[in-house]
Amino acid sequence: MGSPDTHPSVTTNRFIRPASRVHPASPPQGEVETAAPPIPSSSRASRWIPHAILAVGLIATAFSTALIWRAGELRDRLTFLHATDIELRTIEDQFRTYTALLRGGAGLFAANDDTVTLAQFRAYVQRIEFQTLYPGVLGFGFTPAIPAAERERFAARAEALGVPGFRVRPPSDNPMLSAILFAEPPNARNQAAIGYDVMSDPVRRDMVERARDTGHPAASARIQLVQEIDANKQAGFLVAMPVYAGGAVPAELAERRRRYLGFVFGAFRADDLFNSIVSAKAEDDAAFAIYDGAPGPATLLHRSPRSPEAVAGRLTREATIELGGRTWTVQFEQRLSPQRASALPEIALVGGGGLLATALLGFAAFRQRRIQDEIRRLNASLEARVEDRTRDLRETADRLRQAGEERARMEEVLRQSQKMEAVGQLTGGLAHDFNNLLAGISGALELIETRIGQGRSKDVAKYIAAAQGAARRAAALTHRLLAFSRRQTLAPKATDVNRLVDGMLDLIQRTVGPGIDLRHRGADDLWPALVDPSQLENSLLNLCINARDAMPEGGRIVIETENRWIDRRQAEAQDMPEGQYLSLCVTDTGTGMPPEIVARAFDPFFTTKPMGEGTGLGLSMIYGFAKQSGGQVRITSEVGAGTTVCLYLPRHRGEAEADGPDTGKRPLPQAEAGETVLVVDDEPTVRMLVADVLNDLGYTAIEAADGAGGLRVLQSDARVDLLVTDVGLPGGMNGRQMADAARVGRPDLKVLFITGFAETTLLGDRQLEPGMAVLTKPFAVEALAARIREMIAP
Ligand SMILES: Nc1ncnc2c1ncn2[C@@H]1O[C@H](COP(=O)(O)OP(=O)(O)OP(=O)(O)O)[C@@H](O)[C@H]1O
Ligand SMILES: [Mg+2]
Repeated sequence: MGSPDTHPSVTTNRFIRPASRVHPASPPQGEVETAAPPIPSSSRASRWIPHAILAVGLIATAFSTALIWRAGELRDRLTFLHATDIELRTIEDQFRTYTALLRGGAGLFAANDDTVTLAQFRAYVQRIEFQTLYPGVLGFGFTPAIPAAERERFAARAEALGVPGFRVRPPSDNPMLSAILFAEPPNARNQAAIGYDVMSDPVRRDMVERARDTGHPAASARIQLVQEIDANKQAGFLVAMPVYAGGAVPAELAERRRRYLGFVFGAFRADDLFNSIVSAKAEDDAAFAIYDGAPGPATLLHRSPRSPEAVAGRLTREATIELGGRTWTVQFEQRLSPQRASALPEIALVGGGGLLATALLGFAAFRQRRIQDEIRRLNASLEARVEDRTRDLRETADRLRQAGEERARMEEVLRQSQKMEAVGQLTGGLAHDFNNLLAGISGALELIETRIGQGRSKDVAKYIAAAQGAARRAAALTHRLLAFSRRQTLAPKATDVNRLVDGMLDLIQRTVGPGIDLRHRGADDLWPALVDPSQLENSLLNLCINARDAMPEGGRIVIETENRWIDRRQAEAQDMPEGQYLSLCVTDTGTGMPPEIVARAFDPFFTTKPMGEGTGLGLSMIYGFAKQSGGQVRITSEVGAGTTVCLYLPRHRGEAEADGPDTGKRPLPQAEAGETVLVVDDEPTVRMLVADVLNDLGYTAIEAADGAGGLRVLQSDARVDLLVTDVGLPGGMNGRQMADAARVGRPDLKVLFITGFAETTLLGDRQLEPGMAVLTKPFAVEALAARIREMIAP
């Protein structure tokens, strides 16, 4: 009973293949290849962005759709596989149960050795709850083996067993009959089978003989059961379980044939059977058709009823079941409920949604690009406009620059012509003044000559005085010119300006006359100034005379001194270095000056006064003096209200010297015996004049015409108490150099420099060394004598 062959077996040549070779879910390759080309530059890159977005969106959509497609397919495949597994297992299990039923029945008959009555069998069938536990089996019965000879006699035996009127049919020539004796449950169909000789049909006989000879249950091929008594016919089959005398299955075939008593059978209507054992739920997913052997219309046992809603899927599966020596083929076909018929809704959702999103994104990106293009176009036109404007501006600027240059050129021309005018004015003024003075001098000399020729020497003194007066005025004129040109020889001293002003007040008051109220407002603790005091006096007097001339009807002059701190802003405005200054201002209540007069007032020979009254050199001299002293001079004036002219002098850090200039006249000092003076000058007249003066004073004079000659004397043993020398000398050595060279051998040598104009560069800016002094040409003989005496015998 436990032989493996007794079990219906399912050969697992299960495979699944799709109905079609087409894989609609494979990724759309073409779209993958539409990726954007390499991007050369950033601006180009931005142009490709919309395309890239579209491409990426389409690819993503296609990919998602494919994924969903595949997932749907996989789900269907798994569902199908699961359903077919269930169906196969159900069929196999069910046949195992039927085999057990038959085995039990066979056991019953074998145990009672053919004496089982219908009542007993019926009771057995009822006890095993046949109809409840074995659904789908039409009949369960027993067919005894009856030798043909006992055919008639067997009717009596059947009646004894509870089957009255038993009659074997159809008639046959078989030596052994197999007529159905019992067929339970007792219904019309089964009753119709009673007495049917199974051996009369070759198909059934094959089954019987296989069962008898093998001892195993044997299934018939596809047949139509004799129980099919009405129009509703189905395919069917029988399964026979042999019964042997003595119960056990004999080992030998011959023995099995000899002891064979008959068989217990199960009769199956295929449709009823499979409809009852296979769950409708499984058939919803996988319909199947069972064939007895190779599939074909002739072998079809059963086909799942077609559900009106179900849709045929693409998957199929084929399996075989071994049952009672026959091989059944089961063909499964995928069934899909309408809801699951395809993944189309999801695909539509994802694909459609993706396409929609891509389209929206693409639209937005293209729109963005259009906007960017527009902005770029606007920018370009803006840039063009800016360029135009810039070009216009540049052209305007060029024109302005050209105009400026033209103007500067015109100004330069104007300045040049003004300069030429000024030079003309200067030379004209000089020539005029000197002509007058020279006329005076030469006229006087001519008259002196005439008078001496006439022997009228009495009148000579008058003309000499006139000539000397003219010469003095000429000297004063050159002085002023030198002061203006800032080349006058200054003898700066630390000066208390308040004291200087005080010392001059009497002289000034006398000069301006009683009609003018003169005041001095001196600042307390006024800083001292390092300045040439006599030039400062000269300047102050000139300012006061100008003030007087501006007040013909009388008025007031205020002389004011003050300490001033000139900061950077003021310094820039006044054109002078920043620092500490003291100011000396002369304010009048006179006519004042319009700006154009103020602008020209410092020009030499500029005067508004009538011919012969002013030289126009006063302010120019003051200007030159102030600048040469490191200061400045400024005019503020208002027409009709008055004028203030301020001299600014740099503060001197030191004490003012007590002595003012000594102007007192003393008798000419005489030389002591042997006192020798070396005179060096390239101008023989000057040399002769100086030597004559020295001789008159009792000095021994030695003359030299240039620096080399002078130095030779100085380097000799000759006595030299004083060196009087011109500063500018020919021959490569000036007076200063000669004096310095001489002082190497004669450290105490006293030197008096005579200079026509201040060779400041030659004498140097520093204070003269002790024992050195300067005398400016032209000089009065008395001044020369006094200086010489002063130096030799201090
Ligand atoms: N205080 C002042 N008030 C009005 N105008 C003045 C005053 N000071 C000078 N000026 C004007 O400036 C001009 C030049 O003055 P500056 O002292 O250089 O020459 P001048 O006084 O005319 O002649 P000079 O001083 O040589 O005798 C004057 O002619 C006058 O027009
Ligand atoms: Mg003047």
